[in-house]
Amino acid sequence: MKSEMTMATGNSCELILALDLPDKIQALNLLDRIDNELTWVKVGLQMFTRWGPDLLNEVADRGYKIFLDLKLHDISNTVASTIESLSKCPVEMMTLHSLGGPEMINAAKEMRNSCGSQVKLIAVTVLTSHDESTLDAIGLNGPIPKRVPALAEMAVASGADGLVCSPLEVVPLREKLGSESLLITPGIRPIGSAVGDQKRIMTPAEAACAGSSFIVVGRPILQAQDPKNAALAIQTELASQRKNG
Ligand code: C5P
Repeated sequence: MKSEMTMATGNSCELILALDLPDKIQALNLLDRIDNELTWVKVGLQMFTRWGPDLLNEVADRGYKIFLDLKLHDISNTVASTIESLSKCPVEMMTLHSLGGPEMINAAKEMRNSCGSQVKLIAVTVLTSHDESTLDAIGLNGPIPKRVPALAEMAVASGADGLVCSPLEVVPLREKLGSESLLITPGIRPIGSAVGDQKRIMTPAEAACAGSSFIVVGRPILQAQDPKNAALAIQTELASQRKNG
């Protein structure tokens, strides 16, 4: 049985495992192996598209909390209806795209509230795979260090409970948004683990120290020889940062 955890804010930092695997049985076996070293699991488009709400139920039945990362971006009515559909699923946090604009984010929040759902709405700003030339190509004015805080502020003012951002964006976003907003950061690499395609990285302790509410870690755990140990090492690093911070 997993311990009850409060929702992390700027004062603590929790680990989320990105469950980026092609196969449901493999994913559930991995969760059974990691067991009590972990509370949060991120389910993304790849797995949700293939396995849907059944996967969410099977993950939640094992006692995990779910961060559903679908980056919803559509007309307000469609996003609100999707929030209503998802309110039947065991999801604690989910993403929507800030480029959907204030009306879409507000419609999502209104629907969440009217469903009596507690799901936290987390906005994505500029994808970390985008650079200035991508912004030009889609007709958005850069530069990214200006665009991200502007989108973040709009998203939170429109009803988002937090943001997905690069760990390098956490300090300025915390200054702008205060301690209540949830800041969720991928791009995390423990010392010694392969960087892969992530470009702007921090260690778990650095991200926690900067003010991340949650760190999202995939391959450093998924591809470790002993995933349970890899998760434990990150939890230990976060706990010691908490003690020293
Ligand atoms: O394997 P790795 O630790 O790089 O996984 C990071 C996870 O965070 C992946 O699921 C990836 O899709 C997601 N993510 C990201 N960068 C973003 C948004 C999400 O790496 N800007």
